[in-house]
Amino acid sequence: MRLIFLGPPGSGKGTQAKIIASKIGANHISTGDILREAVAAGTDLGKKAKKYMNAGELVPDEILLGLVREVLSNDRTADSFILDGFPRTIPQAEGLDKIFENLSIKLDWSIKLDVPDDAIIDRLTARYFCVNCKADYNLKTKPPKKEGICDICGGKLIRRDDDKREVIENRLSVYHKQTEPIESYYRERGLLKEIPADKGFDEVTEEIVKAIS
Ligand code: AP5
Repeated sequence: MRLIFLGPPGSGKGTQAKIIASKIGANHISTGDILREAVAAGTDLGKKAKKYMNAGELVPDEILLGLVREVLSNDRTADSFILDGFPRTIPQAEGLDKIFENLSIKLDWSIKLDVPDDAIIDRLTARYFCVNCKADYNLKTKPPKKEGICDICGGKLIRRDDDKREVIENRLSVYHKQTEPIESYYRERGLLKEIPADKGFDEVTEEIVKAIS
């Protein structure tokens, strides 16, 4: 199955993409994770992306299209995947269609996770992750047993650089201006499923499973 997960920052794309990918045996491709790893490793890609990410802006389309083209060119990945956080602009959606055409692959669904802005700000200002194993925590919904310490590996819990309140607000504004228009792109092609995602983790998973079954 080939899926795209759309939705505002903090709507649960990463959380749900991991769960669904493991249920259906698909590759989870998160452009945000790939970029964060490149920033941490100090690669050329990371150096180019860092300033955009820290400001809550989008990294330029040509960089993202090159990256996704390379990842999908691997036969095994192209077989079954969930794209999490890509595409995010109309040029990225159009470029992705060309990549699919060149690789002779077909998209099954775009899944849009719907969460209101105020709930997103609540979620993201409470998010932490483990510096070692990258496990996700949330002080409101998924707190660690011991404050500041990862339950799984004992690593220190830290925050993402772009989870500062002013950066979250800019990410939301960028989302509404640049990313929301791609919903119509997929709706017009009969490929959009909208999921109310301001609900418990398991309920959202169930709704997605129902939508793609
Ligand atoms: P990216 O990493 O993709 O960030 P994002 O879209 O802003 O999304 P997040 O990872 O913050 O949230 P999410 O929707 O995955 O939610 P999550 O599951 O983590 O991108 C980061 C940056 O990289 C961008 O700003 C941009 O600069 C760049 N970039 C990436 N892709 C790009 C592209 N295609 N083009 C250009 N630039 C690009 O959940 C969030 C929190 O909520 C967690 O704490 C979680 O535990 C909690 N939570 C999740 N579900 C629930 C629930 N149902 N109930 C309660 N809490 C929940």
